[in-house]
This record gives sequence, C-alpha cells and structure tokens, in this order.
Amino acid sequence: MCGIVGYVGEAHAKEKIIDGLKKLEYRGYDSAGIALPVDGKIAIRKHVGEIKNLEKIILDPEFDSPIGIGHTRWATHGAPSDINSHPHGNEDNSIAIVHNGIIENYQEIKEWLAKDYGVKFKSETDSEVIAHLIGIFYDGDLLEAVNKAVAEMRGAYAVCAIAAAEPDKIVAVRKDAPLVAGIGKGFNFIASDIPALLKYVREVYLIENNETIVITADNITIYDENGKTVKRDVFHVTWDADAAEKEGYEHFMLKEIHEQPKAVYETLVRRINDDGSINLDGISMTKEDIEGYNKIYIVACGTAYHAGLVGKLVIEKMAKVPVEVDVASEFRYRDPFVDENTLFIAISQSGETLDTLAALREAKRKGARVLSVVNVVGSSVSRESDDVFYTWAGPEIAVASTKAYTTQLICMYLIGLYMGRTKGTIETEYYNKVLDQLKELPDKVDGLLKSEDKIAALAKKYHRREQVFFIGRGIDCGVSYEGSLKLKEISYINSFAIAAGELKHGTIALMEEESLVFALATQDFLYEKMVSNVEEIKARGARVIGVAKDGRTEIEKVADEVIYIPDCIDEVAPVVAVIPLQIFAYYVAKERGCNIDKPKNLAKSVTVE
Ligand code: AGP
Repeated sequence: MCGIVGYVGEAHAKEKIIDGLKKLEYRGYDSAGIALPVDGKIAIRKHVGEIKNLEKIILDPEFDSPIGIGHTRWATHGAPSDINSHPHGNEDNSIAIVHNGIIENYQEIKEWLAKDYGVKFKSETDSEVIAHLIGIFYDGDLLEAVNKAVAEMRGAYAVCAIAAAEPDKIVAVRKDAPLVAGIGKGFNFIASDIPALLKYVREVYLIENNETIVITADNITIYDENGKTVKRDVFHVTWDADAAEKEGYEHFMLKEIHEQPKAVYETLVRRINDDGSINLDGISMTKEDIEGYNKIYIVACGTAYHAGLVGKLVIEKMAKVPVEVDVASEFRYRDPFVDENTLFIAISQSGETLDTLAALREAKRKGARVLSVVNVVGSSVSRESDDVFYTWAGPEIAVASTKAYTTQLICMYLIGLYMGRTKGTIETEYYNKVLDQLKELPDKVDGLLKSEDKIAALAKKYHRREQVFFIGRGIDCGVSYEGSLKLKEISYINSFAIAAGELKHGTIALMEEESLVFALATQDFLYEKMVSNVEEIKARGARVIGVAKDGRTEIEKVADEVIYIPDCIDEVAPVVAVIPLQIFAYYVAKERGCNIDKPKNLAKSVTVE
C-alpha cells in the first residue's frame, strides 16, 4: 500500500523522508518520489522501482530543503511508471501533493478541469487531479485551497500538500486513510504510518477522519471539518519498529485477516456506481463479447483456485454459461478445448505465478480472450491479459493468503452480476438483492472478527489433533478446500477437504475419535443434508465443529461446537464463512509454535514450475 512521509525542520528534509519511506518498504510499493520547495519552485524527483533508484537521483546538493513530502506508491490507477509515481504537481509545479487512497470521482474532476481550465494531465492517476484542484483554488493560502479542493473530492484519502509560495508548511487532510503527525523539537513530521517516524520521534498525534492539519517546524495545528482547531492528546509510541510495521499485530497474517473489511470495501467501492451499475473502467469487454462466450475457464493455483471454485457456481448461476475451473499446472498440459468463443479468467494475487502465466499464454495461443483477476498492479499476468479486474486488497505479505481470497470472491460476484445483467439472464430484483448483500459484507466481516477470541479458544482446545477434515456441499465445498489449505500450510496438520456427499464413498473410513471435522452448513437448501452428514460422522466418534448462519440452530443437536456467521444469502456466504477458518488456522499454528508468516517449504510467489 502507498506510504506518505513529510518533514518540516531545519535542514535536509530529503534524508529524513528517505529514512521514513524505507521504514514503509515492508508494505510493498513499486515506485517512490520526493517533492521539495527549491528557489521559489517545487522540485519533484521520482522513480519507478526501489527506493535506491530514487536515492541515486537526489544526491545533488541543489535538491535540498528543510521541508518536503515523499511517497511510496502501490499502483492502483495506471501502471507503475516514473510519471504515475507521486508526488504530483499542478501544471507549473507551484503545488505538489502525495496521496494515499482513491478519488472516486476523479474522472468527473478531470473532465471538468480540462474543459473549464484547459488543464493537461501528465499521468494516468486519480491523484493528479488533487494537485490541479489545489492549484486552481490557491490564492496565497494553502490551507484554504486544500479545504476547497477536498470539498470537490469523493473517496478515501490521506493527502499532503506543499506550495512553492509558502515554503514553511505542509497541509494534510485525511478521510478513511491513516495519517499521523510526529512531534519533534524544532521539526515535525507527517506520515501515513507510525513506523516511518520512529527513528526520530515517539510522540505523535493520531489524526482523525475529516481533519485537516497544518505543520510547520514549530507547530502542529489540527482542524475539524468545520475549521475549528482541535486539541488532541499526545500518543506515546511504546512499540519497537518491527511491531509497528505489523500495526500491533503479532503477525502479518493476523493483520491481513483484520484488514478484510477494508479490503472487501475497497474492491466493491471501485466497481459499484451510485446507480447500482457495475463499473468496468479499464475493461474493454463489450455486450457482444459477453453474449458470444459459450464457455468460461477459470484457471489459477492454490487459494486463487479455490476462489475460482466459488466463482464457477456464481457465474454459472448468474450468467448462464458453462464454467470450468482448473488448476493452472494441469490446464497448461492437457490440451483443453479453448477457442475464440472462450473467456479465460486467470486469478492470481501476485500475478507472477508461473503456472498461471503459462496457462494464460496457452489459452491466448488458442484464441481465448483473457480477463485476469489480479492484486499486484503491473504484474506479468496483468500485463499479458486483455483485461484486468484488480482486487485492490493492498499488499499481502504473509505467505498464507487471506484478504486476497476474499477480494477475489468479490470480483467473482461482480463479474457474474455484470455478465448476467448484460445478457439479461438475471432479474433486476435478484441483481439488486445480491448487490445489497455485497455492500453489507464489510460490516459483517468486521462483526465476525469480533468473535476471534471464541475461535482462538477452539484452536487451543483442538490444536493437537493430527487429522482434520473440512466438508461442505455446493458453494461450501470450495470454502472447505480453502479452510483445509489454510490449516495445513501454516500448522502442518494433515487436513483434507471433501464434498460432504462423497464421504460415504471412501473417506468416512478414516473417521475416528481423534478426527476433527469442520462441517460447513451455510447453504439453506442443503442444510438438512449437512446435518445428516454430521450425524454420520458423529456415529464414528469424530469431533465436529459446525459453521452455520445465525438462527440455523438445528446443527447444535449433532455438532460438538457451532460457529455462527451473520445471516446472508447463500451465494455470498463464502466471504464470511472463510473468516473463522482463517482465524482457526492462525491460532492453531500459533499454539503449535509454527512460523506463521513464512511457513516451511513455501514461498509467497511461486515463479518456478
Ligand atoms: C495460499 O495461502 C498460498 N500461499 C498459495 O496457495 C497461493 O494462493 C498460490 O500459490 C497462488 O498464488 P497467486 O495468487 O499469487 O497466483
């Protein structure tokens, strides 16, 4: 995710900014840049790639100032490039900004600024409009210009701005994106994250939503949304830098589990317009294309493949087109039936998984149209696809995928809804119902995360079991596979997922008192069948943890424990049902003393066959 560091002090802002940006490297980024007021103008230097590339181009003593703003970018709008990197300036670089977040109405603003002010844009980013807006409103008072600009913007943002004509201050503003001010003596900082400041300060102000802040070398003034000054208590940071990177969580995996409400929200907000239509900005698939596909392949590896299993059922139901799901390492060698009427959907968090990339090339060679669902902007899969549907989950650092999976699921729903609506294969009432349910998911996931302690207690109780099964029917079957993979990859327990109806055809022979079974029973129309499956398992003495929707209590009569998830329509249940499974896997691995973020034998991105 993007990082912001700003400094106002006595000298050499660039050095402090670089120190701060380096502390944010762990979050992932693709480019970095710095802006400083120099000789009545703002000088901007930025470079794609690592911070060391930026360091090489800021060595000259002329590029120096006691004040400056810096940024590490994780591409969202526009591929990673020097031009798209931050900071962005207005046309004469009298204003420069750095921005984290997304400006939802940037297209509208862009058109307006081009038409009424003749503004020419340099980059493909949403962020650049902020610099131009501030420039247009600027009349000698940066604070006032920032406030006027913000009034035009919709979305989530943390923005820091500097003006050539006021080279003693930074003005910053936040809405739904973090911002902290670091309190020094004779200098002050602003940053998106505490780790960026810890080398220089331990006292900070935590900036709240809709607050604007003015920072000079000797003063930090915070204003509320009505322009009144706010008195804020000083927050003393006691954690070390390593803990701060994880924002207080013990592991990146736990942090990323907790980031899911936000990640799901980000994925949705970028694709759902105010009128309820789905916005396919950047995707060139036409109505004719969609009507012409007679088959869809979803191809991926690991967790991304499991998202595809859910995607198959969702897209088939909504778009009424046959969907096959395959693991990439099989697809690429089995001479699949693919032609120009096939839509090939590749799913990949990293966008660098070699098998997925090879499968994509094979599908393209045979004439398929390629739509990829990818998290890392500018990755190989995204570059080689005809269209890209980004997941916007932000960087995922733990090897075990969590927020990438839930956001991949969201993409599956959005693709299904869009295709269904375009083809006329779903009723408006159903479309609206699914859309409403999707919008409720961030809160539902958030609510579920509050029962973490209960699931941690179950993990403590069962962490010594050496054989765990995950069973489910329909869409729950795909979630079972994901729950099982999560558990085995970080706790090294032998876990196994199977369609519940298949149990009696062999696997039930393994059930014994020491077995633990997760029975996913979130599908209303299959609920009774799942209860019967649980009875069969109980008859063999195994322990059963049921996962059911609130109010579906019948399963309590047969299962040993039940985890309830918030009520929702069957289709979207995977997004909430997987959360307790992720938490369970995490706490079991913790109880067993495993290396949770970097499990043995595994890599985050598998770029070899
Ligand atoms: C999931 O927890 C794993 N780390 C793994 O299965 C992963 O999902 C798989 O390697 C695919 O990676 P990708 O999404 O980056 O292509």
